[in-house]
Amino acid sequence: MTQPADFLLTGAGELLTLEPHLGEGPLGIVRGGALAALAGKIVWVGRTADARRAVWLLQGGVEVDARGRVVLPGFVDSHTHLVFAGSREKEFALRVGGATYQEIAAAGGGILATVAATRDATVDELVSLARRRVDLALQHGTTTLEVKSGYGLTMVDEVKMLEAIQTLRETHPVEIHATFCGAHEVPPEYRGNMTGYTELVIDGMLPVVAQRRLAEFCDVFCEAGVFGVDQARRILGAARDLGLRAKFHADEFVATGGAELAAEVRALSADHLLAARLGGIKAMKEAGVTATLLPGTAFFLGLPYAPARAFLETGVRVALATDFNPGSSYTPNMQLIITLACTQMKMTVEEAIRAATLGGAGALGLEGDLGSLRPGKAGDLLILEVPNYYHLPYLYGVNHVQTVVKTGRVVWPLSD
Ligand code: NIG
Ligand code: FE
Repeated sequence: MTQPADFLLTGAGELLTLEPHLGEGPLGIVRGGALAALAGKIVWVGRTADARRAVWLLQGGVEVDARGRVVLPGFVDSHTHLVFAGSREKEFALRVGGATYQEIAAAGGGILATVAATRDATVDELVSLARRRVDLALQHGTTTLEVKSGYGLTMVDEVKMLEAIQTLRETHPVEIHATFCGAHEVPPEYRGNMTGYTELVIDGMLPVVAQRRLAEFCDVFCEAGVFGVDQARRILGAARDLGLRAKFHADEFVATGGAELAAEVRALSADHLLAARLGGIKAMKEAGVTATLLPGTAFFLGLPYAPARAFLETGVRVALATDFNPGSSYTPNMQLIITLACTQMKMTVEEAIRAATLGGAGALGLEGDLGSLRPGKAGDLLILEVPNYYHLPYLYGVNHVQTVVKTGRVVWPLSD
């Protein structure tokens, strides 16, 4: 039977389905591939030679010829902090001169510098600053993004950030998921009163965020000198009771038991993990926690990279994300992250592509809807201007994206 469709892509030199049963190798490659979608969802995947028999394009439907290029699922960037005001280029210069991220934070820079600028901004200002960043992410192939609060650190300013994220979600073609990260840092007015601030997060902010459905997930910066494992356990437990799943900054700089805590609270993901210990990695595997690795942060701060091979060889699902933020990783470009994953963390090209698509979907609990190209999933895909998929990480620091399709609609470049 012919399948009706309102979107048809033909002529993919390599169609990376990420579904091994649909094609060759671990990426499930269909050579001369084609794909059809209806009302945003994929309805058929096969070969261009079979497309006319298999698919009937509805009147007004869109047909795209990939002309031999590489086609793959849109990137799922599952960890960003892209709503903020101000910028921190002077810290960048200080780090180049030898200062560490922690020294800069202790001297009043770091997250608290962005908190001051963000508190001064209106919600409209935050939306317009962030919209430009989401546009950049889209142009570089990201079709789904997670965005955190965490630069407000008062009830009013955290809600303001989450409202900005909500406005972006409603008005931008990129799919956006919100995370409440009120426990990103202790604000100046609570200095020396970590317990008081933890209580504000738990008793003041979380109930409002949950009641207004402003976030799906809860994050805590669980780190030496910031929130300890005990505070993180309390905050993430309270969030769970209100229906917000945990995905949090764990073992970013120092091993504090973040990976172990992620397993204990059955977090959706534990993120960063530069300093994760083997026991924690094994516990994450047992508990089914995704490891979200952010090599852009190690690159930008000049730190050693997360032990990606240990996670992969233990059987932990790995996601790659940008950590896009003004302090520790100022890039929206998932293609660059894939190159860093390969060259610095020794992930294979196939593992890195998988982690940037299906892995990211898993880190958001969306692996049933996103991250691979098979019937039933969203029609989110990229056409890359490369002769084969190895060129994606190989020619690095440039944008290979020629076309972005989100739920079966061409969203980049826009024709007017
Ligand atoms: O993921 N570690 C905490 N948060 C960010 C940095 C945020 C900032 O420096 O503004 C991170 O590295
Ligand atoms: Fe982060």
